[in-house]
Amino acid sequence: MKNDHLVTEEAVMAALSHVIEPELHRDLVSLNMIRNLKVTGGDVEFTIMLTTPACPLKSKMEKDARAALASVPGINEIKINWDADVPHDKRISNQIGQQFRNTIAVSSGKGGVGKSTIAVNLAIILAQFGARVGLLDADILGPNVPMMMGVSTMPAPRNRKMVPAENFGVKFISTAFLVRPDQPLIWRGPMLHSAIQQLLTDVEWGELDYLIVDLPPGTGDAQLTLAQVLPLSGALIITQPMQVAAADALRGMKTFEKLDVPIIGVIENMSGDFFGTGAGEKLACEYQVHYLGSVPLDANVRIGGDTGEPIVVAYPDSPAAEALRSIAKEVAARVSLLTLQQQAANLIPIQMIG
Ligand SMILES: Nc1ncnc2c1ncn2[C@@H]1O[C@H](COP(=O)(O)OP(=O)(O)O)[C@@H](O)[C@H]1O
Ligand SMILES: [Mg+2]
Repeated sequence: MKNDHLVTEEAVMAALSHVIEPELHRDLVSLNMIRNLKVTGGDVEFTIMLTTPACPLKSKMEKDARAALASVPGINEIKINWDADVPHDKRISNQIGQQFRNTIAVSSGKGGVGKSTIAVNLAIILAQFGARVGLLDADILGPNVPMMMGVSTMPAPRNRKMVPAENFGVKFISTAFLVRPDQPLIWRGPMLHSAIQQLLTDVEWGELDYLIVDLPPGTGDAQLTLAQVLPLSGALIITQPMQVAAADALRGMKTFEKLDVPIIGVIENMSGDFFGTGAGEKLACEYQVHYLGSVPLDANVRIGGDTGEPIVVAYPDSPAAEALRSIAKEVAARVSLLTLQQQAANLIPIQMIG
């Protein structure tokens, strides 16, 4: 069949310049997200460079791009490849000398709400999407991450630096590794400070897209210490579905606000018939922060933590794992946005970027 229309790169780019990135509200072309465009006769191939491999809007962007290209005469086949370049929060390497692009604190007003469970599962999901992920267990009161990750020892140090343990594609380190289980340690403020500092700087983390920090519950020392030693891209607030739990979570949010740490959003955990549902969303709404979704109460979530095989690995198709995946994508997208805003604010201090 004869094809009368010659497809040009210009025509393709012009069409794609009408596709809007739904979070950033600008078009894919001016955001420099279209890369490696190849036009071979009527066949078009290009890469969309995302700001996170866990982008929740991939399918929408693909649909919009294909729709836009439908207006270009002569196109035969369209192949879209995906890649991601996670925005870099430069404050982090400036302050601690580690190549972490983003840092996420996971926090809750009180213990037992599922902070570690969510930190662990989010870390694994982001790694499954192809991101480079580290997890720092700074919960000195209950350092559960090693157990949940199914690894109880740390590799031998290398070049006088600690080497993080690794499982499910996630590098992690825990305050539990700093103490012997038979030697209970009473942590005081200055010790907590130096422990967190050490786990950030004296560890061979390598380059990471996301460092996730599992904080102790509460709204005290640890939050303050962490915010002092590590620039935070944002904080996640975990709450249970009951109103009393939301009150604790609110105090946590206020702590971060005082420390100038943006709230990425609120996650409600253990939702369902038993504890009810709704406090997380209400809290997010009242405090005008993002509501990132809820994770159902499910015995397999607990079993996953107890056996060192988290639900997103053991039962990736379960509703709880699906919920965690959708939350993880939302978190990744929000973090990219926060970091881009942070970069813009550093470049143009006077102008507000909305
Ligand atoms: N959605 C859930 N469904 C069932 N059990 C859960 C869920 N989330 C967490 N748990 C369990 O609740 C307990 C407390 O969770 P954990 O993550 O240790 O809380 P925190 O870190 O806030 O103290 C753990 O035994 C964990 O496995
Ligand atoms: Mg915990």
